[in-house]
Amino acid sequence: KSNEYADFLEAHALMAKFYRHLLLNTNEGNEALHYLHERGFTDEDIDRFQIGWSLPQNEFSLNVLQKRGFDPARMEEAGLLLKKEETGRYYDRFRGRIMFPIHDERGNVVGFSGRGLENVQPKYLNSPETALFHKSSLLYNFHVAKTAIKRQKQFILFEGFADVIAAVRAGFDQSVAVMGTSLTEEHVRLLKKIANEAIICYDGDNAGLNAAYKAADMLDKNGISVNVTMLPDGLDPDEFIKRNGHESFAAYVKDASLTLMAFKMEYFKRGKNLREDSQKFRYIEDVLVEIAGLKKAVERDHYLRRLADEFSLSLQALQEQEKALFLKKR
Ligand code: GTP
Ligand code: MN
Ligand code: MN
Ligand code: MN
Ligand code: MN
Repeated sequence: KSNEYADFLEAHALMAKFYRHLLLNTNEGNEALHYLHERGFTDEDIDRFQIGWSLPQNEFSLNVLQKRGFDPARMEEAGLLLKKEETGRYYDRFRGRIMFPIHDERGNVVGFSGRGLENVQPKYLNSPETALFHKSSLLYNFHVAKTAIKRQKQFILFEGFADVIAAVRAGFDQSVAVMGTSLTEEHVRLLKKIANEAIICYDGDNAGLNAAYKAADMLDKNGISVNVTMLPDGLDPDEFIKRNGHESFAAYVKDASLTLMAFKMEYFKRGKNLREDSQKFRYIEDVLVEIAGLKKAVERDHYLRRLADEFSLSLQALQEQEKALFLKKR
């Protein structure tokens, strides 16, 4: 299949090289390079992740590709060009964006994600689905991280490219990110082959927490042991690292990440006033349902005690209620 699409691969490798050159060695790339530096990206990051810059012109990539003999119609299929329907003319999909190459498992560039400077909409523009670019099975940085993941039998899952880059800078080589989508069964299948442990490190805002909840459940159902890092103040990992430093981030990931059940207990608390009885009972019921679903009796006991302690309830009452739920579940 990659033979059939050899021109896709060659074109992507070529453009990645051009975008890098534009970012690093030309005046046109200065503003973008400065933006990256301001955000805390180091030259080593830019090198390691082959970050580049696409010129804000309509026909830069088109010209480069045509000069090298690539067929524009194929390049549209490859996601690098667009076609104006009225005129039939081809033009660049990526214009004036910071370019993050996306690699397949073998390390071929198969797509790009382009970030606009400042407040351009959309913030990130991705390659479309192509014969080689499938968002539902690609993971950012997987081609590099898989070595560390195999060794540690563990991966850290992020929401964003910037988060992965910051985490690798902080020493976490086992970092990967979804491509702006939910985690899919295809992703899990890929990861399950080489790891049995996951740390989910999504953004600390509401969207991040909801996505983390879903991803955590999916990994757990697939027999992967999950911990979840809950970052404070709605920060995302990249912002957290910039504000608090590598050591503080490492402590959050390694020591302060929550077991799946502890995370769910925090998750169910959101938006509830636990000083009010009805909301407190709702919360307890939510948690008991989860506890009843745990396979190991020791774990059920552990979290029941925790719940009893937290609300000064009798362990016996909780056990009774949990048992009723447990029996209902069977
Ligand atoms: P920065 O603002 O550069 O730090 O990005 P971020 O990763 O923090 O972005 P955010 O938390 O808003 O979104 C997480 C991920 O969702 C990004 O890394 C992208 O993959 C994806 N995403 C965000 N905004 C867009 C968008 O406008 N379009 C698309 N297609 N994807 C997006
Ligand atoms: Mn600078
Ligand atoms: Mn977010
Ligand atoms: Mn984010
Ligand atoms: Mn961010």
